Amino acid sequence: MVAREPLKLAVLVSGNGSNLQAIIDRIEAGELNARIVCVISNNPEAFALTRAANHGIATIIHDNRGFANRREYDAALVAILREHGVRLVVLAGFMRILSEVMVSAFPHAIMNLHPALLPSFPGLHAQKQALDYGVKFSGCTVHFVDCGTDTGPVILQSVVPVEQDDTEETLSARIQREEHRIFPEAIGLFADDRISVEGRQVRIPS
Ligand code: GRF
Repeated sequence: MVAREPLKLAVLVSGNGSNLQAIIDRIEAGELNARIVCVISNNPEAFALTRAANHGIATIIHDNRGFANRREYDAALVAILREHGVRLVVLAGFMRILSEVMVSAFPHAIMNLHPALLPSFPGLHAQKQALDYGVKFSGCTVHFVDCGTDTGPVILQSVVPVEQDDTEETLSARIQREEHRIFPEAIGLFADDRISVEGRQVRIPS
């Protein structure tokens, strides 16, 4: 059998990059058949850029100054991604909403990670929303990106308990442990061509 080419990934970040690190670690361990061709940040201060550089991965700062609107910013982003031959775009704490320009350029090929069990608690501060609501379980969701906020088809989810004495920090830490597991897993399914999408249904043959 001919070995499959590693999946060409771009990881988009804005902050700490612990999920980027989890993806890098799985690739370096030989557990994920992918290659990160670039890490792109809208924030020049993002620690994720240091993490990428530590592993010899190309970094690009794509900040929004100089762009009149979201569509123009996204058109330039699409050009960068095309130049790098990217097949899957991974949003790992990228704090910008994508316009239809990006979404239509990569249909079912942009993944986002959300720190709650969607459709509960979309948008910002999902862990605080979960605590304020008083749910007993929360978790994280990997989904394809569409033009809404955290509304695209769900690929994988993982559940964690919410403890009585949880703070935003303790709940976030418990959720992040699961994020670091399911995000690389979802990318691996894509790399192995095991994901198909019909409407909202994401099918993964067992
Ligand atoms: C994660 O909690 C993810 O769910 C959210 O942004 C956070 C990014 O964390 N979308 P990190 O930068 O990967 O540490």
